[in-house]
Amino acid sequence: MNILAIESSCYETAVSVVRDGRQVLSDEVLSQADMHALYGGVVPEIASRNHIKVISRLADSALEKAGLTKAEIDAVAVTYAPGLIGALLVGVNFAKAAAMALGVPLIPVHHVRGHIAANYVAFPELEPPFLCLAISGGNTIIVDVRGYTDMSVIGSTHDDAAGECFDKAARVLGLPYPGGRPMQELAEKGDDRAYKLPNARIDGRPYDMSFSGLKTAVVNIAHTAGQKGEEIDRAGLAASFQRAVSEALVPRTMSAARELGYDKIVVAGGVAANKRVRADFEEACRAEGKTLFVPPLRLCGDNGAMIGAQAYYEYLAGTRAGAELNAYATREIDADFSDLG
Ligand code: KG4
Repeated sequence: MNILAIESSCYETAVSVVRDGRQVLSDEVLSQADMHALYGGVVPEIASRNHIKVISRLADSALEKAGLTKAEIDAVAVTYAPGLIGALLVGVNFAKAAAMALGVPLIPVHHVRGHIAANYVAFPELEPPFLCLAISGGNTIIVDVRGYTDMSVIGSTHDDAAGECFDKAARVLGLPYPGGRPMQELAEKGDDRAYKLPNARIDGRPYDMSFSGLKTAVVNIAHTAGQKGEEIDRAGLAASFQRAVSEALVPRTMSAARELGYDKIVVAGGVAANKRVRADFEEACRAEGKTLFVPPLRLCGDNGAMIGAQAYYEYLAGTRAGAELNAYATREIDADFSDLG
């Protein structure tokens, strides 16, 4: 089954053709990161306008690179939530029109389910059940993935997502947006014990997280030094910050896996690209005899292949949408599809 998959929830416009959920025939991604870097963050209106400019061309190119004609597409899939509402609407409306014109089903896909499914593309042998930590610019959740379309959140951040925290801390250190990768590069030159930073715990909710205190601590260190005219150890602060993020993520995920009895740990989303987080997970999984799945870097960030992969399993589970499909800025990963039109 060939699925044409569209992703436009933030500033990457992505179109992919995926066969039977696992085989990526083409994967076109056009990032607007440079345009948003000028403003130090995402400008939603700019994101929507640029999706509109490139989405048709990208879909043509995805079909051509897949070596398929339009008649060989069996379904169209699209990210319908969560994300920037205007950006999502561009993809959703394009997908509706494409599905209608081709006379094929339309499959709505939750963005974070897509991030999880990036691992199905990367690891052909991987099947649920497993425990997943999904860490991106907009979401940080620990998910009990019982089946391809049967999952529930067992822990989440109460405020900033891990990626958002990376971006904000990076900004204070004068690094470009998006700040995750530059922060990692700066951290490589620093001592991760240079600064003592907080690791928040939520009473009675062992798998929930909070990153706003960590972000504020980095802001305060930088501002206090600025007011006193003192230099900060930027590399040491970046390294200490990265360690604090990893220490908030890895032990929680491992302890949730122990409690639920999972031997397979999956990490997904943009922050899964982080070397420190990857290394800490590798060490923890080795120590506990668990198997770790983390996608290669190109599948960590937003892409269409992950949407096409998840869409196949949504299709098998009977998920369909009609012309009334709406986009949602926020929506739970385990929300049912009965109201989608
Ligand atoms: O998954 P993604 O591409 O978009 C969302 O669905 O949100 O994630 C983007 C986030 C950004 O916050 C970016 O700074 C972060 O992933 N990121 C990283 C790294 N590469 C990207 N964070 C830490 N270390 C990295 N190497």
